[in-house]
Amino acid sequence: MRKLAVLTGGGDCPGLNAVIRAVAKSAHQYGIEVLGIRDGFRGAVEGDFLSLGLRDVSGILPRGGTILGTTNRDNPFAYVTKLNGVTQTIDRSDDVIRNLKERGVDALLAIGGDGSLKIALEFVNKGLSVIGIPKTIDNDLMATDQTFGFQTAVDTAQEALDRLHTTAESHHRVMILEVMGRYAGWIALYAGVAGGADAILIPEISYNINRVALSIQQRAKQGKKFSIIVVAEGAKPLGGEMVVERVVSERCDPLKLGGIGTKLANDLEEHYGMETRVTVLGHLQRGGSPNAYDRVLSTRYGTAAVDAALEEEFGVMVALRGRDIVRVPIHEAVDKLKQVPLTDPLLLAARTLGIEMGD
Ligand code: F6P
Repeated sequence: MRKLAVLTGGGDCPGLNAVIRAVAKSAHQYGIEVLGIRDGFRGAVEGDFLSLGLRDVSGILPRGGTILGTTNRDNPFAYVTKLNGVTQTIDRSDDVIRNLKERGVDALLAIGGDGSLKIALEFVNKGLSVIGIPKTIDNDLMATDQTFGFQTAVDTAQEALDRLHTTAESHHRVMILEVMGRYAGWIALYAGVAGGADAILIPEISYNINRVALSIQQRAKQGKKFSIIVVAEGAKPLGGEMVVERVVSERCDPLKLGGIGTKLANDLEEHYGMETRVTVLGHLQRGGSPNAYDRVLSTRYGTAAVDAALEEEFGVMVALRGRDIVRVPIHEAVDKLKQVPLTDPLLLAARTLGIEMGD
């Protein structure tokens, strides 16, 4: 093993730089050279590489974002290109393989969530030596107990809930916090419990608006004239659909979600006369410095990926199982999304606490 390339794909999240640093530092210990690829698979297609030495990663451990850049577009297998003024989708995966070969890269480390790891798996099937590293604030990847970035996003959402509490109480209002989580409600559930929410609405449980309103009315009867609701962006009302802000066809997942918080607020105001305000936390959850937990997890993932490369075990993703970092086939991570099971211990604890889950 002489040379590795590393890329970050999909939406960014806290801890990406910590992984890149760990990869560069541990590879250096073993005398392995590391190349970075700019802007995820776009750079792999276009041959946009840079050298990643110790100096390049110095000081980046606490930094949010990714020094390599990223994108949630530009799938090499369906690469959107303009040819003679006409937009076309072409397979440019061979260009990626050629670019890596030309630079003498022995293995590719792909740091990404569901979308990027699906692309990584297609490259594995084409014979490329790939190791995946699980990233996403949504924590919705199977085969790992946790993705890095999730805990920091939960911290951010919990802090927002603490702030909303004081203003909700002062004004006797219902406050809604819309958090990320397209198909899985992990952020909403963890932040909601940590931030003392009264209702938590997640994509896995379609909510009944009457139940949500009733729980707020019951609190009011007990003298609690304010309520806090956390809603995941992918949550939907019973018999209804997810709220899509717009469809962006070039994205790997074309649905740009957003607006469920406002819909919920409008329903509570119009049908139940509850004064309600909405805060959409949005990309604040993705930005900023990783917390200590995510710095440690990212660092462990980075070193474990280099170890796997040294042992020439490819087609795998490094994953957290209990306290251990293990290797699992990439397909196990992407075959299915990891949603919150209805038997999840924290979900059950939330119910025991009397938190309204909308069902
Ligand atoms: O997958 C992570 C995620 O944060 C989702 O929760 C969210 O829907 C999406 O990224 C937003 O992506 P973008 O930055 O492209 O709008």
